[in-house]
Amino acid sequence: MNRKNLFIALFFAFVLALPAGAQNKMNLDFNNAEQTINKNIYGHFAEHLGRCIYDGIWVGPDSDIPNVNGYRKDILDALKELNIPVLRWPGGCFADTYHWKDGVGPKGERPKIKNYFWGGSIEDNSFGTHEFLNLCEMIGADPYISANVGSGTVTEMVEWIEYMTSDEDIPMANWRRENGREEPWDVKFLGIGNESWGCGGDMRPEYYSDLLRQYSLYAGLYGGGKFDRVGCGANGGDYNWTDVLMERAARNMDALSVHYYTIATGDWNNKSAATGFGEDLYFSGLKNALFMDELVTKHSNVMDKYDPEKNLPLLVDEWGIWTDVEPGTEPGHLFQQNSMRDALIAAVTFNIFHQHAERVQMANIAQVVNVLQAMILTEEDKMVLTPTYHVFNMYKVHQDATYIPELLQTGSYKMGGEAIPAVSGTASRKDGKVNISLSNLDATKEQVIEVDVEDGNLTKVLSASVLTAPDFNSYNSFDEPETVKPVEFSDFKIKKGVLTVTLPAHSVATLQLQ
Ligand code: AHR
Repeated sequence: MNRKNLFIALFFAFVLALPAGAQNKMNLDFNNAEQTINKNIYGHFAEHLGRCIYDGIWVGPDSDIPNVNGYRKDILDALKELNIPVLRWPGGCFADTYHWKDGVGPKGERPKIKNYFWGGSIEDNSFGTHEFLNLCEMIGADPYISANVGSGTVTEMVEWIEYMTSDEDIPMANWRRENGREEPWDVKFLGIGNESWGCGGDMRPEYYSDLLRQYSLYAGLYGGGKFDRVGCGANGGDYNWTDVLMERAARNMDALSVHYYTIATGDWNNKSAATGFGEDLYFSGLKNALFMDELVTKHSNVMDKYDPEKNLPLLVDEWGIWTDVEPGTEPGHLFQQNSMRDALIAAVTFNIFHQHAERVQMANIAQVVNVLQAMILTEEDKMVLTPTYHVFNMYKVHQDATYIPELLQTGSYKMGGEAIPAVSGTASRKDGKVNISLSNLDATKEQVIEVDVEDGNLTKVLSASVLTAPDFNSYNSFDEPETVKPVEFSDFKIKKGVLTVTLPAHSVATLQLQ
């Protein structure tokens, strides 16, 4: 059993052994802190879906809403604050219907298109390749482009690659220059299709593996190795998909993805509302989010069969909670509110990704604005930061930091005969400082946790903040945008190498120590 698995086994042994209400303890293994937490775990996803792009990010330069060359100014400022490392676009399901040439050239000459997957909206294509790649430059994110495999061609993909990345005197690069962009953009990731088992072509893994080999070959050739080619991964726990792709096409990709969405009820046909839910759905939302650990463990184990050195990264390039849409909104636009529960889902998911940092090198929450577990919601000229936004902001200290393996002994939070850990946590070191993030999952009881920091020679807390809310289902609305927001935290003490923290019910705290 390797060290990580030993830690995980011990973790579960402790969880099962401790009676409810027992004191929580966290030991940090400073001597085995080696693995970097890839900053791309804090990645995002922006699809042409509902009001994510149009209205959310892009209003056009003639809008009355304050904007910078068409991008909403308030959104740009809020996104810059998060240090978004990577942004995936244009889908999602939309990507396999998207023909990039419709979205370049003079705006008045771009054809309108119908968004077949998402509510049948008619789009004017005013947001296309230039607008996306320029946005990435403005917010400092690396672009992750999803190529159209489902209804596109190899020719269409390689011309797009040339258009975006070539600095030579060839037709596609020259067309880009005519359209106002002299230098190529620095595209870092290219997805070879999206959900090819479903909306991306309804394919079997054997058939997709062959397409992956074909598209990857030409993507590598035309891209000159400038970007990573991402193989479209499994639908949640479809481990056979991963097995077939690894066996047949591991050498034809630079990373493999997987998608997993949390459904609080576990029933895709009856997901439940984003707000106003009871403690049963708070609990089951968290429990189903914690499944991410089993999911990445099992996909990684399958990958280990073909790649024991873990050279091929696993990218969770869509994740988050998916609820019913807000009443009165278009069902195909996936506009949902976001509560304190969802902030905790984000925190525990990051904790899991950190534990799997060796294999999980990127994750992209779905989605950045106005769709699913969004960072930001907009309504005309108003915008609100969601509880999930605040967790991303509190956790950004872990980007590219060195993961410190944790051994967590925690009591249980129980409901309806089921139990999950009451406390979840993670720690990392960067620039001589240690950041510890702790979450209390219990809906109603505070939790005290002792963190053994002696081996890290940590003697003082430099700063601390906590995110909590009046209720586990509290959220930020346009009328009351600051119901859930981080505040300075002081309910801790540090003495003789032990940091003792009292976490309020349903809360996330981050403490920086030296
Ligand atoms: O994020 C919404 C949709 O979920 C994406 O378009 C698709 O890839 C997934 O099914």
